[in-house]
Formats: sequence, structure tokens, C-alpha cells
Amino acid sequence: MDRQRLEEVDRRTVFHASTHLKDHASGASFARIIDSGSGIRVTDASGNEFIDAFAGLYCVNVGYGRREITQAIQRQAEKLAYYHTYVGHSNEAVIRLSEKVMAMAPKGMSKIYYGMSGSDANETQIKLVWYYNNILGREKKKKIISRHRGYHGSGLMTGSLTGLEVFHNAFDLPLPQVRHTVAAHHYRYAEPGMSEEAFSRFCADELEALIEKEGADSVAAFIAEPVMGTGGIIPPPKGYWEAIQAVLKQYDVLLIADEVVTGFGRIGTSFGCELYAIKPDLITVAKGLTSGYLPLSGVIVGEKIWRVLEQGSEKLGPIGHGWTYSGHALCAAAGIANLEIIERERLVENARDTGAYFQQAMHTAFDAHPLVGEVRGVGLLAALEFVADKKSRQRFEPAAKVGIRISQACIDRGLIARAMPHGDILGFAPPLVINREQVDEVVARTRRAVDSVAETLERDKVWRAA
Ligand SMILES: Cc1ncc(COP(=O)(O)O)c(C=O)c1O
Repeated sequence: MDRQRLEEVDRRTVFHASTHLKDHASGASFARIIDSGSGIRVTDASGNEFIDAFAGLYCVNVGYGRREITQAIQRQAEKLAYYHTYVGHSNEAVIRLSEKVMAMAPKGMSKIYYGMSGSDANETQIKLVWYYNNILGREKKKKIISRHRGYHGSGLMTGSLTGLEVFHNAFDLPLPQVRHTVAAHHYRYAEPGMSEEAFSRFCADELEALIEKEGADSVAAFIAEPVMGTGGIIPPPKGYWEAIQAVLKQYDVLLIADEVVTGFGRIGTSFGCELYAIKPDLITVAKGLTSGYLPLSGVIVGEKIWRVLEQGSEKLGPIGHGWTYSGHALCAAAGIANLEIIERERLVENARDTGAYFQQAMHTAFDAHPLVGEVRGVGLLAALEFVADKKSRQRFEPAAKVGIRISQACIDRGLIARAMPHGDILGFAPPLVINREQVDEVVARTRRAVDSVAETLERDKVWRAA
């Protein structure tokens, strides 16, 4: 099909995620059809090439076009494409992948249950937390606390946990068992002059006050990303995880670390938990597990929870939970090949070292830029937050769509960076195979894009550089 016909059929037949449905169907909004990829680059159906500085949706960590993975999938497909993992059935690929993941996982973890997406994995997490408390005879202990601006998926429970209104509006969410606490964003929510440590204390106090208000006997778990992702790519302030974990421990509240973005190297350690000394009861993984070559997610269950789940089987028989495609052999084969690349090419170390270079380059290019309020990130995860007034940190009117204009200006310069859904924030999560020269190119193109939008905003009298 030629480009034009592809677009016409797409608009007529495809229901797109997070898209203005009417504008897309009617042709009023842009459409981009990605056709191929190699390394850190993708090419669209018109032949335009882009550096993909968001690795799809922070997932193509080993880069595009990796034959090791496609060949592994093919070999597995020829041998055994599918068999279920119900009632004790298994396959070699899923066994080998599990051994690998559990060897990488933080200490104290026991088993991994597989899903197909971050959302379904987090749905499983909440079911396990409820089951756990029921088996322990704590039927009231069911509420789940997540954070404003946290992202945990868009199912019924996970959409509720996600702390972004756009995922709740008109969907009758959040569900009644969910509460949200403050986002750990020092730049936005700390009082003037407050240190990072003091702000972390404040976040922990807020969490404690919420648990007290709801009653500790009704609060089951806290779920959070080690580094907030879709809510704006926000590394935790100093001392945050230490303070939060002390509160959780005090009130016997489980901790679910949502490592869908941070798992498998993105921030320079195998897991985000490692970098921030987080000791979770449960861990969610997805994206980087297969680098998106096939869909696969995992619920990593800690020993403490596992022991109670076993008691559940003793009491109630086989656990009443399962997906047809849990432990899919093809996805597992993709996962093994992907993790082998990560190990062989030392991509976790690259995320740390090239990541540090990337962070430095972003600070050098943007710290003094009048349109940029905050430059932040860790490893190969970074963001620029744009402000109308650098001093007062005042935001632009949403109608000005500054973040979206800047991401479009990046596209015009052959660079994909993501306009994040909350505020005027441009996010970066390039493939972990990126090198320093390519980082320089990403930063240079971004700088040209930001400068050009700044010029247009000044020309249109929307904004003036202070
Ligand atoms: C931290 C986190 N958790 C969960 C999810 C949901 O994953 P999925 O879109 O695969 O359902 C995402 C997706 O971006 C995520 O970033």
C-alpha cells in the first residue's frame, strides 16, 4: 500500500491509544506511520528518518532491528510457538528467562508471574495484595495508595492508580479502594527554600497522614515508580525512598515497585530499586524485558508474599488467577535474547556512563535557557520542563501547547522526543545502545527545536525571554 492509502485506511479502521479520536478519524490531526527501524533510528512511510530519543515508549532498549532477537523468536516459533502455563505446565524458554530475571532481581524475590503488558501486571499485583491480606485474615486491609502523576497503566484498577486525570475522566475512575498522595517533585511542590531532604520528609509525612486518616488497618499497599515516568520523568528528591519506606514499615503497608520503565538498565542499574535502596515486596516489569520485540510483562513476587500465597493454595486450592498467554514461549525467547544483548553489550553500564554524559550535556545546553525551568533526569531518562517565567516557575497556559509545539519542532529536525501528558514537559528515553556522539546529536537537535519555538513564541507575543 502506498503512504496515502495507508493513512486513509488507518484513519478509517484503527482505534488509537491516547489520541483525539475525532480529529484522527476526520483527518484533522497529524498521523505518522513508522515503517522500519535500525539502531536508534526509525523511518516513516514517507522515507523520513528520525532519531528515536524515546525508544518507542521507553521500551526498545537494545535498539531496532536486532537479528539476535528476531532469530530467537523464529527458532522458538518453529519448535513450539505456544503452550499454556496453567496447572504446572511450562516450556524451556519461560524457564530459562525466569532463571535469568530472578538472578538479576533484587534480593528477597521468589517467583515471577508473566503477563503481556504493564497494565495487566499491575492488575495482578493488586489482586495478589488483596489475596494476601485475605489469607492473613485482614479482610479490611485493601486500600492502595499511589501518587498524583504516577503512571501504572490504564486498566480499571491500574487506570485508577495512575494519578493523571485524563485517565479517569468519564471512565468512572478511580475505583473506591484507591487514594493518591503527593508527587515527589521538588521543583513544583516544595516550599521556597525547602531542601530536597526536607521535601522528602514532607512527602513521607503526607503519606503517613493519609494512612492515619484512612486507618492503617485499611491500607494494603503503596505503589510507585522508582523514578516517576509518564507523569514527567522525575527522579526522587534526596532521602525520599528512605523516608517513604520507614512509613510503610511502621504501618505494615506493602510496597509495589513499578519498574516497568526503570527495569533492565534504563537508569544505569539493573533495577531502579538498586539505585535508591528500595526493598519492595513486589516488582512490576515489562517494556525493557523484551525491548518491545514482543509484549511481555512480569510480576516479581517477594518471598514474604510468596509464603502467604502458598498458604492460600493450602486453604483454597489452586490460585484463581491466570492469563492464556502467561509465559508465552515466543515472548520468553525474545526476552532471553534481549537480556543476553543487555549483558553482552554492557548496556546497563552504558546507561550509567553515557547516561551521565547525557545528563551533563542537557544541563550545559539548557540550564540557562530562558524557556526551560528545570532540566532533570537520571541515566538515560531525562526531561525538560518549559515555563513562561523562569524565576516564578509560572507555567504556560495549556492552550499555548508549548510542550507539543516543541516536540513537533524536534520532529521537524528528525528527532522524536515525547511531549509528556502533564504540563509542558519534553521527555527523553533513548535506546540504551546510544553513544556519546549520538547524544550530542540529540541535544543539538533539541536545542535548535527549543530555540525555534522560543523565537515563534516571542514573535507571536505569547512570551518574552526575561
Ligand atoms: C511505570 C509504568 N507502569 C505501567 C505501565 C503500563 O504498561 P502498559 O502500557 O504496557 O500497559 C507503564 C506504561 O508506560 C508505565 O510507564
